[in-house]
Amino acid sequence: MKPNRYVAAMAAYALPDLSVPAGKRPVLLAQNESAIAPSPAAMEAARMALAQARFYSDSEWTDLRAGIAEVHGLDPALILCGAGSMELIQALGLAYLHRGVRALSTAHGYLYFRTVAQLAGATLDLAPETEFTVDVDELLAAVRPETAMVFVANPGNPTGTRIPRDEIVRLREALPDSVMLVIDEAYGEFADAPGEQVFDLVARGDTVVLRTFSKVYGLAGMRVGWGVFPPTIGAEIRKVQNPGSIPITSLAAAAGAMRDQAHMIRVRDETAARRDRFAGAMRQLGLAVPKSHTNFVLIGFGSTEKAASAAAALRNEGVVLRPMGGYGLADCLRATVGSEEDMQIARDMIADWVEREGAS
Ligand SMILES: Cc1ncc(COP(=O)(O)O)c(C=O)c1O
Repeated sequence: MKPNRYVAAMAAYALPDLSVPAGKRPVLLAQNESAIAPSPAAMEAARMALAQARFYSDSEWTDLRAGIAEVHGLDPALILCGAGSMELIQALGLAYLHRGVRALSTAHGYLYFRTVAQLAGATLDLAPETEFTVDVDELLAAVRPETAMVFVANPGNPTGTRIPRDEIVRLREALPDSVMLVIDEAYGEFADAPGEQVFDLVARGDTVVLRTFSKVYGLAGMRVGWGVFPPTIGAEIRKVQNPGSIPITSLAAAAGAMRDQAHMIRVRDETAARRDRFAGAMRQLGLAVPKSHTNFVLIGFGSTEKAASAAAALRNEGVVLRPMGGYGLADCLRATVGSEEDMQIARDMIADWVEREGAS
């Protein structure tokens, strides 16, 4: 039996090793999950929906789409939902990429873009970043005649940095109309500010904006993502998606979470405050941390060896950060913002390590 040649040639999307020594309490700060429980309204809605689980879920996502549309002032007809934004990214790749075309992202861009390009048999090019930040001029310089799709995560994972709306608009306007721009805003709520949203670019017909319930809404395990798609692109994506891919409980939880914006704002602000305190502490230790607009920080340890040594020392005590070798950042570790207690533990252990090994 032979697998599809593109599948045979690719590696599986790498997830972190979450193991810790026996007897240690795991402090898992490696997957950018929320440290704070989802909205009570979301949990209650999921519980109620479980009683309906003998039915297939609504493959039109009617109630969830209505909730998203109300909150974000969008036309529900332009919204598509998926089993995580990963399903929507994969569907975009399968519908629009194929052998002979190229996709483009940035040097330290989200690695799932590569998985999807490979799955479709396409080539992924990477444009350099400047100071861990997407560089629009570098992206434009890397566009080739075969480039069909540009993926930009904004804010970025694993850098945490973002470019302002003006730069996204400049990128879109300078890209050929034939190139689809996919703006992945998995952490978008952490950066929402008046005048900074980009959903309006979808009206051009060549741009897609993705969001998720996995981060600020604290529903990573429910697997719900959404996006705003031009109708022509949305129609192709629907052909590729598995109808009813989002469980009935997940749809209910996401709709409940979306309608509890007060909870979302509390989580966002508490997470950002914890993140900034942690980043400040890391900088005081002499470690480089780019300004983050997400629920994680990227910590530079100065060398590959030092990052590996710090990761091993922390894991030995039960604290798991994400190694960044796969992102071309082997001298860094990424720390998700966890509970106040877990951040204190991580902070103390990194301080101990710096005392032993030196910052750089
Ligand atoms: C930039 C980015 N996009 C998409 C995702 C996937 O999110 P989801 O859980 O919605 O599939 C992640 C998850 O870490 C992410 O960091």
